[in-house]
Amino acid sequence: MRRSDSQTGFAPWSPDAAAALVAPHARTRGGLLPALHALQGAFGYIDDAAVPLLAEVFNLSRADVFGVVTFYHDFRRTPPAGRVVKLCRADACRAAGSEKLAAHAAAHAAARAPNNVTVEPVYCLGLCALGPSAMIDGQPYARLTAERLDALLQGDVL
Ligand code: FES
Repeated sequence: MRRSDSQTGFAPWSPDAAAALVAPHARTRGGLLPALHALQGAFGYIDDAAVPLLAEVFNLSRADVFGVVTFYHDFRRTPPAGRVVKLCRADACRAAGSEKLAAHAAAHAAARAPNNVTVEPVYCLGLCALGPSAMIDGQPYARLTAERLDALLQGDVL
């Protein structure tokens, strides 16, 4: 992921960058979802301007693309205001303590400047044996503890 915005960790929306991110998926069957994930990973959201681009690349109607973007809760349509923490709340991570970590993350978010940290649930990141797991600004992290989460949110590399 390109990191050019020091507050959110996401690049500002760019039509040229978006086209470059979408292009590798254009010839892939079912490439729309990977393209959407690539856009969100880079920009933190799916800009409305991506809809006509994706429709053209994947030979779909704009309504079809819009329908996919709005169907999946994981895709956001506005830029995140701060760091985005997606904490896994599925069974294996729950058994490893994700509920306690979620409460800690919520308290951490509340204690910081408004809109500086967004904590959202996600249900399995494929890191089940290494829980609790999370995605922070699009990057996966495993075996999280409260202390490690705090350090990650403060920008310390662990
Ligand atoms: S249950 Fe959390 S990563 Fe699968």
